[in-house]
Amino acid sequence: VAANGVGRNPAARIGATFENVDSARDRGRFGEYLREFSALTEVKRYKQEAFSLCELQPGQHVLDVGCGVGDDVRALAARVQPGGSATGLDRSESMIEACSRHRPVDGATRFVLGDGDSMPFEDDRFDVVRADRVLVHVADPVAVVQEMVRVANADARIVLTEGDFDTFVIDADDLEFSRRVAQLRCERFRSGRIGRRLTGLLAQAGIPRVTASASSIILRSLEAANRFWGVEELVAEAVVRGEVSPDLGRRWLDDQRRRDGDGRFFCSLTGFAAAGRKPQ
Ligand SMILES: C[S@@+](CC[C@H](N)C(=O)[O-])C[C@H]1O[C@@H](n2cnc3c(N)ncnc32)[C@H](O)[C@@H]1O
Repeated sequence: VAANGVGRNPAARIGATFENVDSARDRGRFGEYLREFSALTEVKRYKQEAFSLCELQPGQHVLDVGCGVGDDVRALAARVQPGGSATGLDRSESMIEACSRHRPVDGATRFVLGDGDSMPFEDDRFDVVRADRVLVHVADPVAVVQEMVRVANADARIVLTEGDFDTFVIDADDLEFSRRVAQLRCERFRSGRIGRRLTGLLAQAGIPRVTASASSIILRSLEAANRFWGVEELVAEAVVRGEVSPDLGRRWLDDQRRRDGDGRFFCSLTGFAAAGRKPQ
């Protein structure tokens, strides 16, 4: 499939390799990707909703697991002043380096290198523990959620937010092929259908009365869908791997480019949030 821009845009690979940023050739691109994504109106909105679910109070100590470039850590730290702090944990050295390049909020931010499934913190340490778009990249989400609960105080809020790539919808003449694209997108992640599992994961970790909510990100241009979800690259790669028919792939991509040209392009991904309190 000779797709425009395919091969130049690493979004599909990036999405799938947040599980090990440090092994990527172009590590700098990951930070750029996160900042561009966070600038989308719908992402800003769901992040505000996720912050609200944390029910932050001045003086609290917050942990952001898989903190990326640390922008959320700084925003969280500002919301727990005076007296509070926010700690960002990430398994990538280059992400932790990127975090440390920015000015901390009055010394109330801290960035720590470590893995979500074996965190370098004692038990009952934080008042709020959250993870946003991290569990999708881990092989054992149960272990990470158990760790999040372990380091949380009694009565601490635990908040999880993740996409579910089986909710990836793209309008097309060939909707069966669109379903296949969603499936391929899921398979490129360690836990592509994690969104629907969040409430169950918290319940399984002993959190009572878990609440759930959803929000969607809608993209109206093929360029944006390529940039964030690597749509054209995903199809081209699936053709090369023999996972889809080259003819169907070419026709589907041509349809997407026509839709993009005449304002009909539509694609969307739904993410879910689950939240609750650690029992006393
Ligand atoms: C898609 S980014 C999300 C970053 C940030 N939460 C945000 O919303 O912008 C995923 C981050 O999780 C980190 N990560 C992936 N697996 C991890 C693990 N097992 N433990 C800790 N961090 C992890 C990656 O290095 C990356 O920085």
